[in-house]
Amino acid sequence: MTRPAAAVFLPFVQTWLPHVDQALLELLPKPAVAPARLHEAMHYALFPGGKRLRPMLVLLGAKAVGADPATALRAAAALECLHTYSLVHDDLPCMDDDDLRRGRPTCHKVYGEAMALLAGDALLTVAFEGAASAGAAAVVELARAAGSLGMVGGQVEDLAAEGDAGHHSLERVQWIHDHKTGALITASLLVGALAGAQAGGAGRGDGVPAAVLDLLRQFGDRLGRAFQIADDCLDLTGSAAELGKNPLADVALGKLTWPAMVGLETSLATAARLAAEARELAPRLVAAAAAFRGVPVATLDAAVLLLQDVASYAVERRN
Ligand code: IPE
Ligand code: IPE
Ligand code: MG
Ligand code: MG
Ligand code: MG
Repeated sequence: MTRPAAAVFLPFVQTWLPHVDQALLELLPKPAVAPARLHEAMHYALFPGGKRLRPMLVLLGAKAVGADPATALRAAAALECLHTYSLVHDDLPCMDDDDLRRGRPTCHKVYGEAMALLAGDALLTVAFEGAASAGAAAVVELARAAGSLGMVGGQVEDLAAEGDAGHHSLERVQWIHDHKTGALITASLLVGALAGAQAGGAGRGDGVPAAVLDLLRQFGDRLGRAFQIADDCLDLTGSAAELGKNPLADVALGKLTWPAMVGLETSLATAARLAAEARELAPRLVAAAAAFRGVPVATLDAAVLLLQDVASYAVERRN
């Protein structure tokens, strides 16, 4: 490593964070709008928020196809709404039963279970209003990633596997990770690319070439796996102050995690290998987009660095 991980990605986050938050405010009804308690609960879950990784991946998806990230801001807000709904529901007593999220009491602790459930439903729904800005293909991509064949399916199997690490295979853990976490991470990149293409990036309004979509999927798969393995490891090694959520929560529930299967050291090594694989894919991905647009690949150098950096960040982060 010649430079610290996230030396490029974190400044990108700093630059774009206010714009993502503004797009979220524009997408969401104001907290005072009736039913005010519901809208308050939605804002409570979203602000000040977490790492905002998924909206940043949407912006990176646009950048990877040579588009201005600004063209994907509404789609970025949509992905954050969908992700935040998944967290609100994930924390409910009937699921992971957590009382700390993003450094504060979980949504249901403040607003009650019924309101948290409904705030999650409303965040999920408004996400599709936002995703429509990226076109029909993006809406389909998001629906598949979020639904029973994606995130929701992964959550079902995550719950089903609780308390049973001794009877499962690594393939099963990977399947759960790919679905509950990887699907939305990959969808973020794809929705961003589709939003960017619609606005005049690769494809000049004709969509994104299949070769670019396929490489984005391969990149997202590695990133999603690395990210969830890191999340599982942080449950063991992080503090509540760092994570903004309770550590050892997976241990308490007997969750089927990567470290529960192979231990911490091997898990960290697996995450690092996956991040390295993602970094290797980045130049190929961006070259495919540049070829399609007919621009010199050097014009997309910044996108390569950002994609590589986000892969490093996914595994080296402390929260
Ligand atoms: C938490 O996601 C849920 C997982 C898929 C591991 P993040 O770690 O991205 O949570 P926030 O958005 O930063 O709060
Ligand atoms: C959650 O995985 C994945 C989704 C919310 C879809 P976890 O249950 O590991 O996430 P945390 O650790 O509570 O953030
Ligand atoms: Mg969970
Ligand atoms: Mg959880
Ligand atoms: Mg976790």
